[in-house]
Amino acid sequence: SHPLLVLGIETSCDETGVALYDTHRGLLSHALYSQSEMHSEYGGVVPELASRDHIRRVLPLIRQILSAAGVDLADLDAIAYTQGPGLAGALLVGASISAALGFALNIPVLGIHHLEGHLLSPLLSKPAPAFPFVALLVSGGHTQLMEVNGLGLYTLLGETVDDAAGEAFDKTAKLLGLGYPGGPALSKLADEFVHSGHSKYFELPRPMLHSGDLNFSFSGLKTAVLTLMHKHEMTPDTRGAMAFAFQEAVVDVLAEKSLAALAKTGLTQLVVAGGVGANRQLRNTLCRKAEQIGATVFFPEFEFCTDNGAMIAFAGAMRMQETSDQDKRTDVFTINAR
Ligand code: KG4
Ligand code: ZN
Repeated sequence: SHPLLVLGIETSCDETGVALYDTHRGLLSHALYSQSEMHSEYGGVVPELASRDHIRRVLPLIRQILSAAGVDLADLDAIAYTQGPGLAGALLVGASISAALGFALNIPVLGIHHLEGHLLSPLLSKPAPAFPFVALLVSGGHTQLMEVNGLGLYTLLGETVDDAAGEAFDKTAKLLGLGYPGGPALSKLADEFVHSGHSKYFELPRPMLHSGDLNFSFSGLKTAVLTLMHKHEMTPDTRGAMAFAFQEAVVDVLAEKSLAALAKTGLTQLVVAGGVGANRQLRNTLCRKAEQIGATVFFPEFEFCTDNGAMIAFAGAMRMQETSDQDKRTDVFTINAR
């Protein structure tokens, strides 16, 4: 098939991500602007501020990656943007800019499901997994195990019944006074604790470990940490011990259930995606446990774990390729409805 050049735009939350993906040459260039510093003084993302900042950033970022790739706007074959889920106002910035560019250039515009972007992001790395595989999607908004049999062929195996893993990291980090976004900070504190000559050690429950299904529950862990905080004086050592105990509990359950998903489906490839996929302990534990059963784990590059434009450009390119393969190019607006 002839090469397709796709511009990807991600504006679902507080990162403005853009990328150029070419189906023959791969990822040509990408750029990301994180607003997290702007939101940190409010302790979370302020939707109105997020939308306004996306408007300020997105066009300069697109200009930047076009010039970095030596590509002209007129060379684009399609535009892919994050359709949802996410903050409504923030999403509309990406949708509007994409619609306007697509109209001006007379090229197709595709809305991509944010989770499909995350799900396919490990395919941007080499070696890339081949279908079928099990995917563990762990972001700030979602925690799901999926069986992935091909593009668009996703079966939900299990998911969280309350908080997402990233959300639990963020809320627990807030309790521990680590600010926003707390996941990476909590993880850093836990990792430092392991390497310190600590005197404290806490054990937290492993929620739903033996529930017999592939579902998760993380909201109780935050409460368990709060209970610990009421019982113990908050020294740097106890704070580190709590961060470590929390991370250990989350990672343990995520790893055990991922392995159970492999066993249930009979598959031997596990793909990890979403922001929590950047967690070092999760990566180490999954690799170790997978090796024991002869399975392989695939991770996105660190920079493509959290929200980014590359995963949206890539998902858009795959969707475009699928439709052009089937000679259904005019159908691009409806393929996501499947
Ligand atoms: O995928 P993502 O960028 O955005 C969503 O779609 O939600 O994920 C962000 C989430 C946040 O909750 C953040 O705290 C968490 O991923 N996260 C981490 C780490 N890096 C990011 N959680 C634990 N350890 C990390 N190293
Ligand atoms: Zn995300």
